[in-house]
Amino acid sequence: MKYFLDSAKIDEIKYAYKAFGIDGVTTNPRHVMVSGKPFLTVIRELADWVREEGLEGYERFPISVEVNPHLDDAGEIISEARKIAAMSENFVIKIPCTAAGIEAAKELEKAGVRTNLTLVFSASQAIIAAKNGSKFVSPFIGWKEDNGEDTKEYIKNIVDIYKNYGWYGKTEIICAAVRSAKQIVDCAVAGADIVTAGLAVYEASFKHPYTRQGLETFQNAWDNTAKE
Ligand code: E4P
Repeated sequence: MKYFLDSAKIDEIKYAYKAFGIDGVTTNPRHVMVSGKPFLTVIRELADWVREEGLEGYERFPISVEVNPHLDDAGEIISEARKIAAMSENFVIKIPCTAAGIEAAKELEKAGVRTNLTLVFSASQAIIAAKNGSKFVSPFIGWKEDNGEDTKEYIKNIVDIYKNYGWYGKTEIICAAVRSAKQIVDCAVAGADIVTAGLAVYEASFKHPYTRQGLETFQNAWDNTAKE
């Protein structure tokens, strides 16, 4: 399973790539706002960085960039998506799962622009993403769980449906808004292709109190053992 970083902060992205080899990035308008930089500055920095790292190409390191969320016309979404996609071959265009968004994603994929259908909260929305050939689909986990919904069956249903119809691996499932190590594991058990989460979620997922406790035990033993 691949790990994407859900962030638009370039320093955080560079660190996560170097420290634990993230496989891609997902941004959204809120992440860009939190970065404190203008939208175009953020995406230019990302495009420059993948070039410097020799990571060109969405197959090697996909970066999802969301279109203006106010657009509700397929033609307008397509036109903005084309401008963004022209800036880097790593950019995958993130488009909300609305009627206009689905139509735009279908046309963009036909024209060779990779898309990520986002704000997906039901298996039926994930079906329409695959039927229309989106490269990625983003079912949200954290938001549903914050709302008291269980998401294990939700993800498993999407995986099973994709396997039933030959979409598995063609439209890659990005479990989005992942908030905990447990949710990462749930997504992996269900067979999701990718999870996307913030840096703090990954950092917490590498830690276990027994690892720290065990290390202290071994350090103590080391200190109390003759070296020759
Ligand atoms: C998905 O790709 C979104 O960027 C993301 O997961 C949204 O969730 P959050 O900003 O609440 O974490």
